[in-house]
Amino acid sequence: MTTIDSSSKKDDRSHLLVEKDQNKQTVALPPKKVMASKLAAAAAAAAAAAAAAAAAAASSSQRQPSQNQALTTSSTITSTTTKITSSYSSTSNNTSSKSGPSGQLPRSESTMTKRRLSSSVVDNTREKKVAREKAPQSKPGKSITHSDRVVQAEISQYRPYFTEPDSDNPNGAAPTHKEKNLRVILEYPGSIEPENFLLLKPVIKNAAGKYDEEEEDQDEYNPITDLMRTAEFIYDCYLTPEEQKLLGNQSHGIMRNLTKYRNRRNGAGFAQAIKEFNKVMRQLKADGVLAKNAKDMCHPNYDLACHILFQVYSRTVARQADALNNYQAFSNNVYGEINPILVKDFITKTGVNSRSVFMDLGCGIGNVVLQVAAQTGCEAYGIEIMETPCKFAKRQLKEYAARMKAWRLPTGKIHFRHGDFLDVAANDLYSTLKRSDVLLVNNYAFDAATNQALAQLFLDLKEGTKIISLKSFVPKHHKINQRTLNMPESILRVEEFEYYSEAVSWTNNGGQYYIGTVDRSRLAPYFEEMYGR
Ligand SMILES: C[S@@+](CC[C@H](N)C(=O)[O-])C[C@H]1O[C@@H](n2cnc3c(N)ncnc32)[C@H](O)[C@@H]1O
Repeated sequence: MTTIDSSSKKDDRSHLLVEKDQNKQTVALPPKKVMASKLAAAAAAAAAAAAAAAAAAASSSQRQPSQNQALTTSSTITSTTTKITSSYSSTSNNTSSKSGPSGQLPRSESTMTKRRLSSSVVDNTREKKVAREKAPQSKPGKSITHSDRVVQAEISQYRPYFTEPDSDNPNGAAPTHKEKNLRVILEYPGSIEPENFLLLKPVIKNAAGKYDEEEEDQDEYNPITDLMRTAEFIYDCYLTPEEQKLLGNQSHGIMRNLTKYRNRRNGAGFAQAIKEFNKVMRQLKADGVLAKNAKDMCHPNYDLACHILFQVYSRTVARQADALNNYQAFSNNVYGEINPILVKDFITKTGVNSRSVFMDLGCGIGNVVLQVAAQTGCEAYGIEIMETPCKFAKRQLKEYAARMKAWRLPTGKIHFRHGDFLDVAANDLYSTLKRSDVLLVNNYAFDAATNQALAQLFLDLKEGTKIISLKSFVPKHHKINQRTLNMPESILRVEEFEYYSEAVSWTNNGGQYYIGTVDRSRLAPYFEEMYGR
């Protein structure tokens, strides 16, 4: 069992290769990239709206400057201790306002990117060598996995992004090799080492299987976008309007320079803006401002939680996500995920909070467990029978713990077990089930026998426990009578809800989910009738 206790207070994941429809037909899903995770896609719609608002504010500030100055293995980790304005995957100009809900650039923007880079011929061998020489040796576990390691690991598919000379200086020289292969560090709110970034862009493979030197791959990890978003989240979530003035805004100052030099692809200007950002961050940390603001925030909001989980996933699972496709078709182990936007809905509808115990029966790589714990600070458990996803869940947990420390946020108590959720005798599964306030069972692909066996477990749940499922545990026409009185179906009051496109990984269509609440009060009249008062 991997556990984290801090009581102290990518796309479309393509892991679901086949989708079962009601008639058990198979529908082959198109092969899709894993990296541009749903974590990003789920937040992109909100991002576009927020970005449009930010762009409107910026343009109005240009007009009115004065108004806007403004279960087998075991390890334990103890950890001490929440707006998205651009797409996760694109570095190009003003992606925030131009990205659609999928975070993809409109065609004109991509064409622009292509034209700009058409003259940049990359010496890939040399680039690989330089990158290898400079790779930092960060310790695994307690330390975060630095962004540059992700890029480094797939260096053949990355190309320089900062390729333009300084347009403010007409006599400026062409960017040096170092400026093109730009390395920067970024300070986080927590008292950990800054994160190392190698600011290159991912490029797409063409039909001949060669990397297209120019076209950006919107589905792969983009360190520039990660860094920009991280800076924006720090700005939006950790600083008061007064403190934000130290960094300016999208019209002037450091935040403006970050966007400006990113858009102009000017490495020297961008590196300078990052240095100034870090200087302000160090000062704010030394003054105790970030610690206080993080404490006041308590838990990350949905958008920040998604960003942190995106960082965790990209550094731990993304590159090996194909391994998740190793399951037997039509078995209980078909892999698919609930996307963050729907998890957010689950949290709201079931009222999970910091005092709750949440459990995901069949937790896969642990995304839901981590998100629920991050957003609420609850005690969260995941159990998974398949070795690979469970290994990934534990790996994510370690990175998550280190990252939450970097963001100066509490992790909540989180536990992942490798095992069978029907084997309640194992470890403390039974006692945890009995303490649970909210259970998730993504039983979309479970067979009838498994669903029935799960339902038997529900007989021991405490009153009021909520069970979220993708298939209802109670048939539509179930009636309570003397014959059905002792059946689990009779203690569940079930409500049906809709989910919409992008909510789950195995289909872009909407569907239904169910929340059953353990409510034995409905049985009282029948027992009275049978046994008298
Ligand atoms: C569709 S995935 C759901 C992953 C995650 N809960 C989510 O919704 O994003 C279902 C998972 O349940 C796991 N599973 C199936 N039977 C199980 C069992 N008896 N015990 C534990 N896990 C099981 C499968 O291996 C699979 O990873």
